[in-house]
Amino acid sequence: MSEAEAGGVKLSALDTERFGVPSARVDDVSAETLPAVLAFCRAHGVTFLIARCPTSDLKAAQAMEQAGFLLMDTLIYYARDLHRSPIPPDSGQVPVRPLLPGDEEQVRQVAREAFSGYSGHYHADERLDRAQCDAVYTSWAERSAVSREVAGEVLIADLDGQVAGFATLRMNSPDEGEGVLFGVAPFAQGRGIYRSFMVRGMEWSLGQGARRMVVSTQITNLAVQKVWTRVGFEPSGSYYTFHKWFDAPGAAVHG
Ligand SMILES: CC(C)(COP(=O)(O)OP(=O)(O)OC[C@H]1O[C@@H](n2cnc3c(N)ncnc32)[C@H](O)[C@@H]1OP(=O)(O)O)[C@@H](O)C(=O)NCCC(=O)NCCS
Repeated sequence: MSEAEAGGVKLSALDTERFGVPSARVDDVSAETLPAVLAFCRAHGVTFLIARCPTSDLKAAQAMEQAGFLLMDTLIYYARDLHRSPIPPDSGQVPVRPLLPGDEEQVRQVAREAFSGYSGHYHADERLDRAQCDAVYTSWAERSAVSREVAGEVLIADLDGQVAGFATLRMNSPDEGEGVLFGVAPFAQGRGIYRSFMVRGMEWSLGQGARRMVVSTQITNLAVQKVWTRVGFEPSGSYYTFHKWFDAPGAAVHG
């Protein structure tokens, strides 16, 4: 069976390398595709599977529960029509500029501090090594800083010559920009840097020709959702993230 036929599940080289167990990922699981996803994982010796389904698809969520999956987080997406109302002015006090060569190490450092112990699906899984969970975000930030294939643009909050925050942006399609990974160093939080990033992200997306911009986070991350609603974003969808360990006690009995 090819990977495409198996309900969209794919082996994940990044997770396999990071956590030291054969890993796979799948988006948009349904009750109908779940058996093929499980069969693929067993056929490929997968130990750790990350699986998402829309929160509206309770049949899929319950089928995963019955198959021994554990809920790890709930992702919420917001979207903004960039033409419907003017982008609000950037009222922030801290200057925001594009990433410059030489900023990479400071971006890594900000990511390390901002995302230490973050409440994402990796940190929610007791079986995963804490330091490796933190490293998910630092290495993602680092890859974004060095590769235009990972992020189309990286913005930096520059506080007296020190990198105080970063925001990675990309175009998902000619019509849609996305704010991907944003972090503000603890020493600089609460000064409106995140709001500035959102305003500048909308301006960048508009400048690339986008009609809308999307963002997502864990539903528990209230700080960013407060900012999103203030600058004109609206909820647009949500997903559950489950993990399945194929070597867990009783895993062979479950689906
Ligand atoms: C979330 C984060 C980006 C906010 O950055 P920031 O520059 O401090 O945000 P702002 O100054 O624009 O403030 C935004 C709002 O969130 C609140 N806020 C900021 N940090 C907060 C925190 N740690 N906990 C709760 N609320 C917080 C602010 O008080 C403000 O609300 P208010 O106007 O009602 O006071 C920053 O705390 C961070 O990097 N957190 C860890 C990583 C993260 O969550 N990244 C975003 C993933 S999508």
